[in-house]
Parts: sequence; C-alpha cells; structure tokens
Amino acid sequence: MEARGIHHLGVAVEDLDAALEAYARLFGAELEHRETVEDQGVEAAAVLVGDGRVELLAALAEDTPVGRFLSKRGPGMHHVAYEVADLDATLGELAREGAELIDAEPRPGLFGLEVAFIHPDSAHGVLSEVVARG
Ligand code: CO
Repeated sequence: MEARGIHHLGVAVEDLDAALEAYARLFGAELEHRETVEDQGVEAAAVLVGDGRVELLAALAEDTPVGRFLSKRGPGMHHVAYEVADLDATLGELAREGAELIDAEPRPGLFGLEVAFIHPDSAHGVLSEVVARG
C-alpha cells in the first residue's frame, strides 16, 4: 500500500479548549472543524498548521476509547493517519500484508471522513489510521 501522505496526527488531550488555545498560540494552528461525536465518546477538533493537520481528541467520559487511553497513558500522541486513494483497496492490501486491522471495513470517522484503524502491534507501537482522500 502506498499512502499519499500523512493526513493528520491524532493527539489525546484533557481539555480541548486549552489545547486549541495552546496550539494556536504556540504553533499558529487554525481551527478547521470541531465536533462532538457521542457514539465515539469524543469531542474533537481538527486544526491546520501550514500544510499539516492535527486532530485534538478529548474524551466525553472515562469509559471511552480516548478516555481509557488518557487514564492509561496520559495526554499525548494517540495515532497517525495516512491518506490513501482507495480505502477498500488499501484494507485488502494491508490484510494481505498481514496487518492486524481493527476495522476490516471502512467506517465513519470524524468530520465526515471514511476511516479504518490498524492495530499498534502492526505498526511498531503506533495506532495507525487510513483515511480516504476527501
Ligand atoms: Co484520526
């Protein structure tokens, strides 16, 4: 599979407003999208930094994927998302390469994107996401 590039980096944060303020002040990050997704237990913001993008993720409750991550590891790098041309084809290629897929099929991600996650064990400890080009 050949990714087109890094679509975004995902960062788990305790306080989304504080993170937005800090990323704007320190790195010139500009808000692109912000949304709360109840069924994923997350309040998220995408910010643009030049050509790059960071996804800031705050948990709505402790018993959510991001909440469990924060309890266990504290705030910090959560995942890397790669942009691909064709998500279905990519998932087939990753499976053939022996990657452990968390999502065998594309699913709705944040901000209207179709996404799928790959287990960190298959990417040297980094939770990885593939995103179809929007
Ligand atoms: Co992401």
